[in-house]
Amino acid sequence: MTNWTPDISAIGGPRYRAIADALARDISDRVLPPGTRLPTHRDLAYKLGVTVGTVTRAYAEAERRGLIEGEVGRGTYVRDQESGNRTAIRYSRSSTGALVELGINVSSAPGVADSLKQMLQEVTAQADLNQLMDYSNNTLPPAHMNAAANWLERRFNLPRRPDWIRMTNGGQHALLTAFLSLCRPGDLVATETLTYSGMRHLANTLGLRLEGLAYDDHGLIPDALDACCRQRAPRVLYTVPTLHNPTTAILPEERRIEIASICRRYGVQIIEDDVFGFLPDEQLPRLATLAPDITLYITSLSKCIATGFRVGYIVGAPGLVERVDSAMLVSQSMGSLVMSELATRLIESGEADKLADRQKEEAAARQEIATDLLTGFDYLTKPKAQHLWLRLPLPWRREEFVAEARRRGVSVTPADYFTVGHAPSEQSVRISLSQPQSREQVETGLRIIADILAGQATLFKAVI
Ligand SMILES: Cc1ncc(COP(=O)(O)O)c(C=O)c1O
Repeated sequence: MTNWTPDISAIGGPRYRAIADALARDISDRVLPPGTRLPTHRDLAYKLGVTVGTVTRAYAEAERRGLIEGEVGRGTYVRDQESGNRTAIRYSRSSTGALVELGINVSSAPGVADSLKQMLQEVTAQADLNQLMDYSNNTLPPAHMNAAANWLERRFNLPRRPDWIRMTNGGQHALLTAFLSLCRPGDLVATETLTYSGMRHLANTLGLRLEGLAYDDHGLIPDALDACCRQRAPRVLYTVPTLHNPTTAILPEERRIEIASICRRYGVQIIEDDVFGFLPDEQLPRLATLAPDITLYITSLSKCIATGFRVGYIVGAPGLVERVDSAMLVSQSMGSLVMSELATRLIESGEADKLADRQKEEAAARQEIATDLLTGFDYLTKPKAQHLWLRLPLPWRREEFVAEARRRGVSVTPADYFTVGHAPSEQSVRISLSQPQSREQVETGLRIIADILAGQATLFKAVI
């Protein structure tokens, strides 16, 4: 640990910011090389004559600037500014403070930074930046539409229809736009009783009512949809037919055909969420292909490239896409053409394919680790899924299991986050494999999970 004691007397402003500025200066001057372990909050506070809270705030500010990184139980280190690597840090603390973060589906493809660097250089060197600042009309330039259509055809098995595509600021924004296009407050939306938590949140915010439908290991059960359409007249079906979040179910082709036909029979429109659609090797027909006249299809580049790459697509046939255009005006008149240009270049150069392939490989390798460690326990997954769905053995209940995992440094997400309305939640947790930086971290986290599952449940507290 370094004995770093900066002189902050000459730096103006609040003390915490002066410390963060001193850190920035000394990292830049290589007084503090990458990997240096910084003094504890208490030590530095003592040496500088400030409170521990001031140092905590200073370190948080420096972390926000990307200068340093904290690691639970191991201290705070200087980051390598060039590579962005967490030098000397094996297990870094996640945003939720867990040692191994298996709770959220956040990912970035291996090598994404290099691809982006190259493409950004091309954009600045070759693209007409004035044109990319255009704000006159909310459809994409033809070259961008064509690239998106190529991508959706190549990786998502969607027929090539450039005119049907609109760009959004990621998948969540595509969902917002789709719901705004098709629903009014108070409308009923049918969906699997377990569904993507971001959609639950969205529906609550927009004043939509959700009706949970029965599902099994293969996804939504068509008879349940039929009964709901007959008795409750939903406006829309929202579903994730390919690698469902959280169960990883892939809806078989016969069910897709049946579901499309039920929706058409009862005049129900479909929002098909396909953010994971590029992952499976076997590509089934999309609902948007089986029933294009009643389906809004959404996907994004988040899972194929990086969650922070905020480009998504929403696809609708004539008759629907005009409603998308109108709904889009509520949240953004048009997406960022700079991001769209970047996406176009990644797609047309083949870089996006390389990144998506690496995501698939990485997902497969992480699933193999899960197979090694979790075989014998009851869980649902697919060979290239980025998460898995673990059904807890007795006597575990999900909140106690989540607390025990957390106590041992692993974050997982309980079924409650995905359960519609007041339906009873399964005794299950979702384990995401995509967020940790390395396979070793995934292994560490899953070993802890397997250990908990195999051991005695000791955490239960009696309430009297
Ligand atoms: C099923 C599903 N739909 C939509 C989204 C949102 O996608 P994006 O990250 O592109 O906003 C997610 C994100 O995890 C998701 O799991």
